[in-house]
Amino acid sequence: MANLVLPYRKPQEGRDYWIKDDVLADPMAVAERAWAREDWELGFPHRQERWPGMRVMPGLTPEELAPVEAWVKSVTGAKRLWVEASPEGATLNHNCIQVVGAQESGPRPHTDSRRLARYAGVLYLHPKPRPDAGTSFYRLKTPGGQLSGNLCPPQCTYIHEAIGVRALPLQAWHEELAVPNVFNRLILYRADLVHSASRYFGRELKERRMAAVFFWMA
Ligand SMILES: [Fe+2]
Repeated sequence: MANLVLPYRKPQEGRDYWIKDDVLADPMAVAERAWAREDWELGFPHRQERWPGMRVMPGLTPEELAPVEAWVKSVTGAKRLWVEASPEGATLNHNCIQVVGAQESGPRPHTDSRRLARYAGVLYLHPKPRPDAGTSFYRLKTPGGQLSGNLCPPQCTYIHEAIGVRALPLQAWHEELAVPNVFNRLILYRADLVHSASRYFGRELKERRMAAVFFWMA
């Protein structure tokens, strides 16, 4: 834990993260379509996976995805977006729908792979979500309790490489910003900023937090 000096970048809307409400023309159809799927893949805690709950792919159809990507380009200034091929063993969950209940996981602050994503997006798909179950951004706390950084250094792929440990308890992080969960809202952010689902909710399938997630290179 010697090397706790991380770069810090205050998350600023319009520069580091972007929010768009009313993203899909028919979000209820997407939610209903997901609930009707029978090909869910199980993650943690049902299987030894790094991702929680369960998921299906693809989440959005090409027709649904196209305007989303057009918006991502327009706000980030990216000329081109692409999905990086994941290296052997790594699973890239681009355009998958994840359903995670309250019992399955809690917040896990992390950064996404710098090699696989420059931007990450989360599209909230539960029609009546817990508002406090959106997306949060965190700063590392030093053992002395001071606030440290929140950005994966450019020479690292993941922030844990810079911190020197694989995972830290939630108490090691200060929640700096929480974006509320709103049905049909997309939050887009720099994938190298420390972030997490703020929390999960629900027990039964249709009560659980549901979101489509995206990883773009640009
Ligand atoms: Fe992430």
